[in-house]
Order: sequence, then C-alpha cells, then structure tokens
Amino acid sequence: MQAQQVRDGFVELYGTEPEGVWAAPGRVNLIGEHTDYNDGFVMPFALPHTAVAAVARRTDGVLRLHSADVEGGVVELRLDDLAPDSDRNWTAYPSGVVWALCEAGHPVTGADIHLASTVPAGAGLSSSAALEVVVALALNDLYELGLKGWQLARLCQRAENVYVGAPVGIMDQTASACCEEGHALFLDTRDLSQKQIPFDLAAEGMRLLVVDTQVKHSHSEGEYGKRRAGCERGAALLGVDALRDVPYAELDAALERLGDDEEAVRLVRHIVTEDERVEKVVALLESGDTRAIGPVLIAGHASLRDDFRISCPELDLVVDTALASGALGARMTGGGFGGSAIVLAEAADVDTITKAVEEAFAAADFTAPRVFEAVPSAGARRLS
Ligand code: GLA
Repeated sequence: MQAQQVRDGFVELYGTEPEGVWAAPGRVNLIGEHTDYNDGFVMPFALPHTAVAAVARRTDGVLRLHSADVEGGVVELRLDDLAPDSDRNWTAYPSGVVWALCEAGHPVTGADIHLASTVPAGAGLSSSAALEVVVALALNDLYELGLKGWQLARLCQRAENVYVGAPVGIMDQTASACCEEGHALFLDTRDLSQKQIPFDLAAEGMRLLVVDTQVKHSHSEGEYGKRRAGCERGAALLGVDALRDVPYAELDAALERLGDDEEAVRLVRHIVTEDERVEKVVALLESGDTRAIGPVLIAGHASLRDDFRISCPELDLVVDTALASGALGARMTGGGFGGSAIVLAEAADVDTITKAVEEAFAAADFTAPRVFEAVPSAGARRLS
C-alpha cells in the first residue's frame, strides 16, 4: 500500500517510473540507553513503521529530493555542492547520506528520490535513521556498492554526525539496517557484532506498548552532546578508552576513584549498570524467563531519571502510572528529554494500563499521548 503510493508519487513528480522502492523502519530500544557512544551494548528492535523511498539513478551529478510528509516542492542539489552544515532542513538526512557515500569514494552520480514515512517524527523512534538508511540501501542496491547493513549504518551515522551535526551513536542506524522480524538485536557497538534474540511476546501472552508523550526532542540541541562529553570525560578520568571498559564488578572501585566529582559519578554509574542490564536481559530472554525482564527495565528508567537525568515529567508519568496499573516493566526509550516510553504488560492488562495513562495525562493537563503496540518487525529491505 505505502509502496504503491510512493511509487505513484514518484511518477507524478518526476514523470517516469522509479527503478525500485525500499523501506527502512524506525525502532524502539528495549534496553541499553546512551551506551552506544560508550562502546557498550544495546538491544533495539524494529517497528512496523517505515520510511519508504522510490528512487532512480541519475548520471548528471544532480540529486532531487521530495517528501510526501513535508510541505514544499522538489529540492534540487548538485552533488559537488553537498557539504557539512550546508543544510538545516529535512533534506539534510538524505543528502547527508549521498554526501557520505561520495566522500567514501563510492561512484554515486545522482538520484531522484521521493520519500514518505510512517515513523512519527521527534518521538524518539528514529525517524531520521529510517530516512537515512532507506536512502543508503536504495543507492547501495542501484549502484551495486555491495555494502553490508552495518557498513550502511556507519555511513548513515557519519552523515548524521558530520553533515547534519548531531553527535548520535550507532544504535538507530544499525537497528534500522539490521533488525529482523520477531527478534530484538543484541548489538555490541564497539565492533558491531550482532546477535538476533527471539522476542515474541504475543506467544507468551504479553505485549509491549509504545507511549509517545508527544514531547518533541532534538539531538542537535545541547543536552545529548553534554551527556556524551561527560561520559568521555569520565572515561578519561578513569584512564579507559570508553566506559564500556569499566567492568561491572569494578564499578564501586571506579566510583571511589572519582571521589566527589558527582557529575562523573552519576554518568559512569548509569553507563556501567546499563551495560550490565543489557546483558541481564539477554540472559533472561535466552533462558525463556521473559517476565523477569520487567524489573530490569524499571531499574533502567530509574537510572536514566536519577543518574543520567534525561527523563521528563511526561515520561515519568507514563512509567509510574503503568507500573501502578499492573505493568510488568516500563521505561523511557531513546535519547530522552521527551519522546517515547515502553511498557511491558500482560495482554489482559493492556486496556487498563492504556486508559490509566491517558487519564493521568489528561489530569496533569499534558497533551494526549499516542499509544500503540510494538511488534518486532523487519529491518531495511527492498519492496519492489
Ligand atoms: C538516540 C541516538 C542513539 C542513542 C540513543 C540513546 O536515539 O541516536 O545513538 O545514543 O539516543 O540510547
């Protein structure tokens, strides 16, 4: 459906058929927050929501971009003119990917691209990564570049770090490129080694809800970068390459070394305990003890709220209300300062929890949240 519409949109805009149509999903992260730029562990899974791109090659060094989701016409750029920081619009995501491909020496000579996305923007569900990855995959296929999912993810991250100017880690792009249906992706962000962990909650009578608080966030704004710089400072103080290198068993000793540097203590404690939580969740899922991940998710939220300090009243309200209404676990997901929370619940409790969260938001005078069920879905792929 979405694919056909995007294909038709392409024909209408550019007067010719695209060479193909591709999709790349948004993601939620089950556990492992802000660990990715500390060389640590993450565990995202792909959403059914996708960015879809209809694409055709060009040979004249021109890139034409259009989105069904944004007001305005076709944006035309010359590949020779693409440069970091040159674009502050939505087009920076796809054009940044083309820039990163060219910069890496790949023989891309232009493209016509029409995009449409069902990934909610600014909701902490990786709408930008989906846009980047779908363009990278389409050009990889059309120009026969032979790049693997993790390599596309690296190029997309470079586009976002250098061209867009957002200092994000590698999780979102890898999730969009590499996730598999019915699985969560256990990813070691140091070497990008991956393990697909079966994650079929429905089969066990459970559900995972995403609650989009409708509080918009942006990673190019300062707080994300501050946390990142703070973690790097913590690693330097401890004499390690990255906080991933502080073993959980040595956390107390490490915190003692940081003394009364309260900021460093908080950041280091979050990252080291969060890596441990990811490993715990993997072990529980692999041993079939799925319900036992609930308390781990709850501990993860407390750590993000109290130590890493990136939650907000709306996210805390989702978590507190869901838990008070019988959820097995709940936590904020993604970069923080707004965006979405996830709630793990027995299938039979979903309606009660949803209603309680909606009522709590109304009572607090917050914008009504958007609640939907998340089913682990496929990663980036060619549709036609
Ligand atoms: C954002 C970034 C990711 C990651 C998360 C926090 O989604 O894009 O790289 O750092 O925040 O886990």
